[in-house]
This record gives sequence, structure tokens and C-alpha cells, in this order.
Amino acid sequence: MTISTKAGSPRDRVLIFDTTLRDGEQCPGATMTLEEKLEIADLLDAMGVDIIEAGFPIASNGDFEAVSLIASRVKNATVAGLARAISGDIARAGEAVRHAVRPRIHTFVSTSPIHLAHQMRKTEDEVIEIITATVAQARNLVEDVEWSAMDATRTSIDYLCRCVEAAIKTGATTINLPDTVGYATPDEYRHMFRSVRERVPNSDKAIFSAHTHDDLGLAVANSLAAIDGGARQVECTINGIGERAGNAALEEIVMAIRTRSDVLPYETGINAAMLTRASKLAAAATSFPVQYNKAIVGRNAFAHESGIHQDGMIKNAQTYEIMTPESVGVSKTSLVMGKHSGRNAFRTRLGEMGYDLSDNQLEDAFVRFKELADRKKHVYDEDIEALVDQNIAMAHD
Ligand code: KIV
Ligand code: ZN
Repeated sequence: MTISTKAGSPRDRVLIFDTTLRDGEQCPGATMTLEEKLEIADLLDAMGVDIIEAGFPIASNGDFEAVSLIASRVKNATVAGLARAISGDIARAGEAVRHAVRPRIHTFVSTSPIHLAHQMRKTEDEVIEIITATVAQARNLVEDVEWSAMDATRTSIDYLCRCVEAAIKTGATTINLPDTVGYATPDEYRHMFRSVRERVPNSDKAIFSAHTHDDLGLAVANSLAAIDGGARQVECTINGIGERAGNAALEEIVMAIRTRSDVLPYETGINAAMLTRASKLAAAATSFPVQYNKAIVGRNAFAHESGIHQDGMIKNAQTYEIMTPESVGVSKTSLVMGKHSGRNAFRTRLGEMGYDLSDNQLEDAFVRFKELADRKKHVYDEDIEALVDQNIAMAHD
């Protein structure tokens, strides 16, 4: 599909499928309590996430209970439960999501030669039969069935097309083509979506979905490339937590689409002003700290220390910020005072702290500030207060 980027042209909606509570929780050490999961699910729903993957019901009784409770309380989003291509898994997932306003069963099977030979020990034809049987079983339980080709990016395109065709024919409404091991490049991933959609009969009967992992740091770039290739659902997690190096970060995808709407003619239903809150909640629940320089939600995402940048920011925030901190729920930009800070930022900070110094006083204080900043890694407001007060006291002596 050719998409026009002309201003004012209609934008395609990209569905946001959040898997923080499933793939996110699968990363070592990120286990969450039931209460934490419920709190996260409520926030995701309020934030406008379209599909919440609440867990893997067959994995444990705790997971089953969490998915069932989330299914019963979520008001707007579709609630999905994950199931392997095994009858017992599908039945359990169906039971867990049955009270949801919009229930979904998400079932998957591996399709790559390496998984077929070493993990599944099945032939290609046997896997096609499994797809038909499991998607049919899921469709008997719910209307909304997502089928995933695990390790799609290391599967031959011919075989992948056969699998997708079987899944759509049997009633899958969403087709997910995951880059399970984070191996694809953006061009390859875009091309895979285009080819499958072009070659599979009735491909327009299903929504195509991207699910990417960050082993090569390409998860978000790959998700955006998949959208360009026709995917209209992206699977992601808050803070990008997930197996190994993680999944695509929800906040990065949402803000890339929003900030670069000139070249990405799409929209999501996410209330971006809630992203920082979601990030803090997920970090606290999983005990996974957010790296300082993490895009969008890291502590430094809206912080500036260099003199040149601080000077530009004081004159016009757009000089060094491509989105406003308020747009993602941060109250304001922070100009961090350190050895790279310049006079203008120092004067502005003093003004914010209530000081009104003469030019000479300011100059003296600035020299002392630079000496201090050379010795100390962080210069806090209290340090500035101390050196200015000392300066003023010396002037009175
Ligand atoms: O990475 C993956 O392939 C998955 C599937 C279960 C969708 O998480
Ligand atoms: Zn995954």
C-alpha cells in the first residue's frame, strides 16, 4: 500500500500490543506479584494500549489467576493469553480470558528449520497440520485468534507463506511474524512483511503484527520497518524489558511515530503523557532500573549539561529537544549544573533559586562554581547556595 505523507492525509492506525506482563516478565529477575500485574494492567488500559498480553496461563496457577483477573477488570483493551500449539495450553488460555470484554488467544509454533529440527523434531508438513488444528481449536473458543510463527525471520519465505496461509484459512485474525532472536535488519524485516502479504491469498483478512527483540539493538527500527511493510500491530514492552536484550520499547515506538509524523504517517491510541508514569511503575514492579540515557523515559532524556546546549535551551527549547518533556509526562527540562555548564545556564539557575546578583558577584560566583565543578561530579543546588552565600559574605567583610 502506498501511503501519502502529505499534511492532513489520513493516518493508518497502528495497534499497540503490550507484552510487558508476558514477554517482559520472562526476562530473568523481572517476576511481578499479582498486585503489581493488576496495577500495570490498569495503567496500560488507561493509557490506551489496544491489546494487553496478560500472561501465559498454562505456565503456572499464578499466571492463570493473573490473566483471569486482568481479563475480568480491563475495560477497553483486548486481553490476550499466550498458548503453545498444544491443546491443553489453548484450553487453559481460553478459560483464562473468557471473562474479558474482548478476549484473544495468542497461539504460536516454531517455523524455522533450526527449531523444527532441534526443538520440535517435526517435519514442515507436520507443523502445517499442527497450525490448522490449533488455530481451529482456538477459534472454537474465541473469535479473536492471533497466530505467531516463532523464529519467522530465520524461516524460508516459501514455507512461511504456507504456514501463514494455513493459519488465515483456519480463522486466525492476526498474524504475528516475530524476530524471535533479534536477528533481522530493518530492510529484511520490511521485505518479509511485504512478500508474505503479497504472496499469501486472503492476506488482507488478517492484521499483520511485528514482534521484535533487541539482541542487535534493532528492535524499534525493525518494528518501524515492519509497519512500512504493512504491519498494523506492534508488540512491545514498557522500558523494552523482555527476554535476553529485551523487546521493542513501547515508549520509543509511540514517540517515534508521534515526533516524526512527517515521515511516519501513522497514529497510535496511546496517551503519551502517561509514558513516564508507566515506565516508573514497570521499573518499580520488576526492580529493573531504567538506564540513565534510555530514550524517552531515562533520567537524562530531557537533561542538558553542556554550556552550548544549555545556552540554546534557555533561548529556545527546540534547539536541542525534538519533543517536549511534558508530552511524555515529565514536568520540565533539567539543566544539570556541572563543569560543562556555561554562564548563561548558571545565571538562569541562580534566578530560579531566587538570587539577583550584580555582574561582579555573578562573575566571582561563576569562577568558584567552575572550580567546584572540576572537583565534584555533581553540583547540587545546595552547593551553589553555599558558594553564592559565601561569596556574598566575603563581599561584606
Ligand atoms: O519472541 C517470540 O517469538 C515470542 C512469541 C511467543 C510470540 O515471544
Ligand atoms: Zn518474544
